[in-house]
Parts: sequence; C-alpha cells; structure tokens
Amino acid sequence: MLKAHFLSQPGNLIPVNREELMDTLRRPDINLVPFVSVENMMKLVNSVGIDQFLKQLAERIEFDFTRWQLFDKVARVASHSSVGVIELMPTSDGETYGFKYVNGHPGNTRADLQTVTGFGVLARVDTGYPTLFSEMTLLTALRTAATSAVAARHLAPQDASTMAIIGNGAQSEFQAMAFKAVLGMKQLRLYDIDGAATEKCARNLAGLGFDIECCTSAESAVEGAHIVTTATADKQYATILTPNMVGAGIHINAVGGDCPGKTELHKDILLRSDIFVEYPPQTRIEGEIQQLPDTHEVTELWEVIAGSKPGRTSTLQTTLFDSVGFATEDFSALCFVHSLLEQYPHHEMLDMVADPDDPRDLFGMLLRSQVAV
Ligand SMILES: NC(=O)c1ccc[n+]([C@@H]2O[C@H](COP(=O)([O-])OP(=O)(O)OC[C@H]3O[C@@H](n4cnc5c(N)ncnc54)[C@H](O)[C@@H]3O)[C@@H](O)[C@H]2O)c1
Repeated sequence: MLKAHFLSQPGNLIPVNREELMDTLRRPDINLVPFVSVENMMKLVNSVGIDQFLKQLAERIEFDFTRWQLFDKVARVASHSSVGVIELMPTSDGETYGFKYVNGHPGNTRADLQTVTGFGVLARVDTGYPTLFSEMTLLTALRTAATSAVAARHLAPQDASTMAIIGNGAQSEFQAMAFKAVLGMKQLRLYDIDGAATEKCARNLAGLGFDIECCTSAESAVEGAHIVTTATADKQYATILTPNMVGAGIHINAVGGDCPGKTELHKDILLRSDIFVEYPPQTRIEGEIQQLPDTHEVTELWEVIAGSKPGRTSTLQTTLFDSVGFATEDFSALCFVHSLLEQYPHHEMLDMVADPDDPRDLFGMLLRSQVAV
C-alpha cells in the first residue's frame, strides 16, 4: 500500500517556497540537529512496539522502492582490508540527502565486537544543512529484516508458514521478527555452526509467538521450510546451501553474501533460481551473483514492487532475493526514524552546525569565543 503522506512528514522537511525556506533558516536554533543515540533508538523501537516499528518501516521501504526513478543511485563506496570492509552508502531523492557509514568484519565477534556497526545522516538538498544524525547498528538490522520481508511478500509461496534461519547471529532475531510482523511467519527452524548462537536466538525469541525448532545441521533446518534465510558471516566463498538442500518452490532470502569474495550459496542454486536484486551494479560486485557472468538475467526488486515485472509466477519456481543492502533502504529507515521524532521525544539536540551571525564571519565567531573562555 502506498503511503503518500510520507512526503509531508518530517523526514522530508523541505519548505515549498523561498519565504518558508528563509523562515526556517532564521530559526535561532538552526545549529542544533536531532541525534538518535543507541539508547534512544531502543526507546523509540520499544515505544512504537517492535512489530509496529518493523511493519511501518517495511511500508516506508516499499514506498521508496516505488519512487526508485527519483533516487540518485550509486554502488556503495567500499574500502576493503584483509579482515573486513568499511563502506559509505549515499543517496538522495532530490529533496533529502542521506548516507550511512557501515562496516562488515566477520572476525570481530571473536574479539567480542560486532560484525556490523553503522551510523547515518540526513540533510536538506536545498541548503545542505543536516537534519538528522542517528545510530544505525540497530537500525541496519531492522531495515535489513524489513527489506527481506518486503521482498518475501512479493516472492515467497503464498501459503509459506515455515522459515529456516541459517546463521543465528546479530541479524537473526530481527529477520524472524520482521517475517512475523509482515508475513505472519511463526514456525522457525534455527541452525548455526556455533550451537551457542542458536541457543541465544531461541532464548531471545521465546515467548514472542514463535514455534521454534533448534536443528543440528543446515540440511535438517532447511527440510520442509518454505523460506530459507541465510545470514552467516565469513569472509570467503562459503557453501551454506548446496543444490540437494533446495527443493522446488522455496524462497531463499540470502542476506550474508554481501561483499566481493563473500557468498553463501552454491552456484548451481543460482542457475536454477529466479533471482531478484536491489541495484544490479552493486549486487553484481557484492551479491551471490558475483559467481555468475554479468549478462545473467536478474529482476530488480523495485520493478516487482511497482508492478512492472512479475514476482513469483508458479508454485514450483525457486525464488532468490540476493540481498546486499542498498542506500535507499537506509534513507527510508532514517526518514522513518525522523518522522517519529515529533511524536516520540527520544532524541537529543546536538550543536553540529556552526552558525555565525554573519555567515561569512566564521573566523570572527571563533575569535569572539576566545573572549568568552
Ligand atoms: N544484506 C544486507 O543488507 C546485510 C545487512 C546486515 C548484515 N549483513 C550480513 O549478514 C551476515 C550476518 O550478520 P550478523 O551481524 O548477524 O553477523 P554475526 O557475526 O553476528 O552472525 C553470523 C553467524 O553466522 C554463523 N556462521 C558462520 N558460518 C556459518 C556456517 N557455515 N553455517 C552456519 N552458521 C554459520 C556464526 O557462527 C554467527 O553466529 C553478515 O555476513 C553481514 O555482513 C547483510
């Protein structure tokens, strides 16, 4: 369902005429920018309720996919090292600009650090002034899960009731929660090479309305599942799913293969699946399809959401959402968070933009501050 009202919500704070713009810029507190810390993000999610949060976030992501043509699109700017990657993910819809800083370091958990962390910014296109700073470690997990659920709504079998999750780390519970909130998916099969991760996932999801089975192999987790989510982390060409494990008609939500040299699926699974991607120039570098020639046919998710290309067309079709995470999804998540701040006071104001009385007298402002010290 399209939500046209998003355009007038505070994620897009662009005044319609010059006078309104000047009024906004004359605000005495123009230097202050809302900041959502990790603590406040948790308060925000809990105040809205995680199911509602994920549902509304999924709606916002879906809405922005229908506006795909408006966005500046570029494959993310990645800085690789032997242990991980640090990336910048920018986009703009012409009114609001956004970017995310995010890392991926699969070995981090061995040092008690997270694999993925992030933060993000929104800014006005007309002045370049920032309008939001936010943590995006939690928000990335929420937006990745919400995007997976949006894709599955268009691609998974109609009567899907069971999902296997292979890889039970930081993303896993968010995936489960989003599939429950958006698709009503309650039967879960969990598997991780580290049994402690599966125990943690099952413990966290206990009492939240799931029927959970902890499995001792990926094969047993996948058997009979209608949807298979892979969310493992390893900096290599891994083979989490092999062709014998994938029966006809299932939907694969491949989340963990998101970097050059880091994949989760055997190539033959790709060859027998209909593949759906976010932004082909980025996915061909980072996704499962890095294993295939650049000419291999894929469908862009936005085309399915906008109704110009079919999603699932038969019960026997194997569909694959080759998720890598695209900048518009972070933009949608930041705009959604911004839109909540009027109703929920969970943010601080940061003095982030220098605001001299005379815009050309930045140095004078510094000089005068010496006197005040
Ligand atoms: N597509 C996206 O938009 C997106 C967004 C965020 C994270 N990710 C990726 O998702 C993956 C998971 O992220 P996370 O934050 O949950 O990482 P994490 O390190 O917290 O969890 C990964 C889990 O995978 C398990 N694992 C590793 N190899 C396995 C194997 N062969 N079989 C079964 N389990 C295995 C590990 O034991 C661990 O519990 C990462 O690769 C990350 O880069 C993708």
